[in-house]
Amino acid sequence: MIHGHRFFEEETGAFIPPIYLSAMFEQPDRRTGETRLTDRGTELKYSREENPTVRALERALAAVEEAEDALAFSSGMGAISTLYVALLKQGSRLLVTAEGYGTTIQLASDLAKFGVRVEKVWPTAEAFVQAVREGDVVLLETVTNPTLKVVDVPEVAKRCREVGATLIVDNTFASPVLYRPAADGATLCVESLTKYIAGHNDVVGGCVAGPRSLLLELWEWRRKVGTIMHPFEAYLTLRGLKTLEVRFERQSKTAQELAEFLSEHPKVEEVLYPGLSSSPYKRVADRIFGKRLYGGVVSFKVKGGRREALKVLSKVRIVKAAPSLGGTESLLTYPVISAAKTIPEEERLKLGITDNLLRLSVGLEDPEDLKEDLDQALA
Ligand SMILES: Cc1ncc(COP(=O)(O)O)c(C=O)c1O
Repeated sequence: MIHGHRFFEEETGAFIPPIYLSAMFEQPDRRTGETRLTDRGTELKYSREENPTVRALERALAAVEEAEDALAFSSGMGAISTLYVALLKQGSRLLVTAEGYGTTIQLASDLAKFGVRVEKVWPTAEAFVQAVREGDVVLLETVTNPTLKVVDVPEVAKRCREVGATLIVDNTFASPVLYRPAADGATLCVESLTKYIAGHNDVVGGCVAGPRSLLLELWEWRRKVGTIMHPFEAYLTLRGLKTLEVRFERQSKTAQELAEFLSEHPKVEEVLYPGLSSSPYKRVADRIFGKRLYGGVVSFKVKGGRREALKVLSKVRIVKAAPSLGGTESLLTYPVISAAKTIPEEERLKLGITDNLLRLSVGLEDPEDLKEDLDQALA
């Protein structure tokens, strides 16, 4: 996370890239209008297209994702919407995960008005393998939001390659610490940088990592759509990225402790966490992640229904009731009215997103404080 992408400026000896707030960059040759070029050959002339601080982040992200290159976006949804615009046209078939970030699914469904044929696929490798056909664009999440099903991504990637489909993996919940889809057969990896990678609840951003040839095409769409990240956010994200591994490890270890604690709690009906030996997803997580870490999000069902779940949400003190995940502060959400708001009731119940479900994103607080807080809220 540190030396693979170390920045160093020959001219000044600076270790940290400056925040280039310049909106434009001078053209060195006025007569021909020739512009400076970045290391990937794109023109450096206007910050909606390229910016050196954003580029420094992209190089670091590419190293961390073990991908040829990366592009940074104004948000995770900026990355996903630009991908949709770039890869889909009238008549295209888009297979999108039935369980995932609500806005990703909602925007996919909205694309029907442009003649895109959208199909929701059950979040298992088997369902994707069965559904995918030549020319499809497939979007799934490594670990689903909010019930934390772990999808066998290499299996889907293999099938997508065989039939000639494009596989986009949203790796936000796993983060590159657990898994690097672009290095394991997926066509492209997308991350909401807002979460673990920036990690401090002060940045909104997104990225796509993958082969440079594809990213150069996506670069043209980012330029036209105007979804590049701002240089200040890029600087903060670079700073966050340096501690990603230690934060993620600590958050995963605390999450494991809390998952075990909640499993024994008399007021808890069920805990959904791939690190529990009772989880049906532990085996696939161990095989594809191979880290004995399972991420910093724990979902659990409170005994009772909506009323009891919302009561816990209103009683936590250290943990804050707020959306998002992956940051330094622990956050609790009620998925039925947040991430899964747009999933029809019958479908969400089949997915296990019940009225008593809560999703906890574990921060960097003392695990004992978090246990005490959850205990008093459940009581
Ligand atoms: C899995 C996942 N993907 C994408 C997004 C969208 O990212 P952003 O909020 O940075 O636009 C989110 C946001 O919560 C998410 O959870």
